Formats: sequence, structure tokens, C-alpha cells
Amino acid sequence: MENERRIPVHVAIIMDGNGRWAKKRGLPRTAGHAQGARTVERILEDADHMGIRFLTVYAFSTENWTRPDSEVKALMNLLRTYMKTSLAKCAKNNVRIRVLGDKTKLDKDLQDAIANLEMETTNNTGIGFQIAINYGSRDEIVRAVRRISENVRKGLIDPEEINENMITNNLDTGGIPAPDLLIRTGGEQRISNFLLWQTAYAELYFCDVAWPDFTKDDLEKAVDAFNGRERRYGGLIS
Ligand code: IPE
Ligand code: IPE
Ligand code: MG
Repeated sequence: MENERRIPVHVAIIMDGNGRWAKKRGLPRTAGHAQGARTVERILEDADHMGIRFLTVYAFSTENWTRPDSEVKALMNLLRTYMKTSLAKCAKNNVRIRVLGDKTKLDKDLQDAIANLEMETTNNTGIGFQIAINYGSRDEIVRAVRRISENVRKGLIDPEEINENMITNNLDTGGIPAPDLLIRTGGEQRISNFLLWQTAYAELYFCDVAWPDFTKDDLEKAVDAFNGRERRYGGLIS
């Protein structure tokens, strides 16, 4: 029965395969990114309708700056457009937005648009939508360690007080439960520096579908696969 199906609380997605999707069609890579941006909007609504409470997507990694300038610019422009135009839709759909990653490296107008969108949606009670931009899990951990060290230096905490909870809370995802399901589209089977700490016990799902082609059906398949898994967290199932 449909209502027997467990819906993961938090789904994270490595949206991969945009460039190859475009190449296959004789289009520039940026056309794949544009189509991929449309997929994000669709899947956010689908996830919400399925009852997923948190959706986190990997939009731009700390390593993606090494791509050609023109591609980086096109990706930043897509993100800029999203941040500047999605407020009305978020308000209507009660979506709460948070951007993960080091925002200080982004253009000022993009930083401002992000801050505005985060602020304006902070009291929304619907799905939490996290977008990782200039995000690298190792970089996130370094920034968390620096913040905690600063508190030690100020004498606010003792090193002995540092525990897993404190580290979890100082990550960009602080306050958001760890992902239950991590999906990577596009055929590669690797994590590429995404949510390393947070996915310690996530179920992993890899599919060959390129991100621009990813549909609600594909998301449901991933959730079905998740339902077939037995999560043991290192223990035994009684
Ligand atoms: C994912 O698609 C989007 C980003 C990494 C920004 P890619 O651009 O990596 O597409 P492929 O992997 O080259 O096909
Ligand atoms: C991971 O995809 C980053 C994003 C989806 C934003 P990449 O295409 O950058 O990862 P690699 O290079 O295949 O590991
Ligand atoms: Mg890729």
C-alpha cells in the first residue's frame, strides 16, 4: 500500500550529468545547466508533494571554480536568477531556503540576494530547501573547526566540551537532520566532497539518468530503493 511506504525526512542530491546531457544533443554545456535548473524547480515541488521535509541539492562545488570562466559565469548567472526570482514561489509554497557553502567568495549582489531570500523565507514552515553553492564538505568542516577554536580561544568553551553535537551544529547544515537518502544522478558513483560528515549513515542511491532528465518517477524509484534497505546504524536488527 502507498501509505506503507516510508518517506525519507531528508533527501540530498548530487545533480550530475548536465554537461553530458547537452553534449549528447549537440548543445553547449550551459544549455544542460539551464535545463538542470528547471529540473530543480520541478523536483522541489515533487519532493514537497511526496512529504519529504528537507531537500538539499549540490549546485556548485568548491572545485567547480576550476572550470572554464564562461561556464562558471553561466552557472553563477543561473543561481543569481534563481535567488532573485524565486521569492514569490517560495512564499506561495511555504518553502524555507538556506544556502550551504562559503558565501563570502560569491559576488556581492548574489550574496545580498541569498541573504534576502533566506531572511524572507526563514519563518516558512514547509519543506526546507538547501542549495549548496561554493560548497565543499572539507571546507565546511575547516570553517566549523575555526569557529569552535575561536570560542576556545575566547575562553567560552573548554576543548573537553567539543563533541560530535557541537561539530554537527557548527556545520552549514546546523539544525537540519542528517540526510537519510543521498542520490547521485549522471552515472558516477562518488561523493565529490558533498556532506561527508552528514551522510555517515545515509543510504546511497546512484542512477544513470542525467540530471536534466530526472523526473518524479526517478525520485520515487530512489525512495522505493530506500524502502528496501535495512538501516542498522552499526547495531543488530532484532
Ligand atoms: C552537474 O553537471 C552540475 C555541476 C557540477 C555544476 P556537470 O556540469 O558536472 O555535468 P557532467 O558531469 O559534465 O555531465
Ligand atoms: C559534483 O559534480 C558537484 C556538483 C554536482 C555541483 P562534479 O561533476 O563537479 O563532480 P566530479 O568532478 O565528477 O567528481
Ligand atoms: Mg559532473
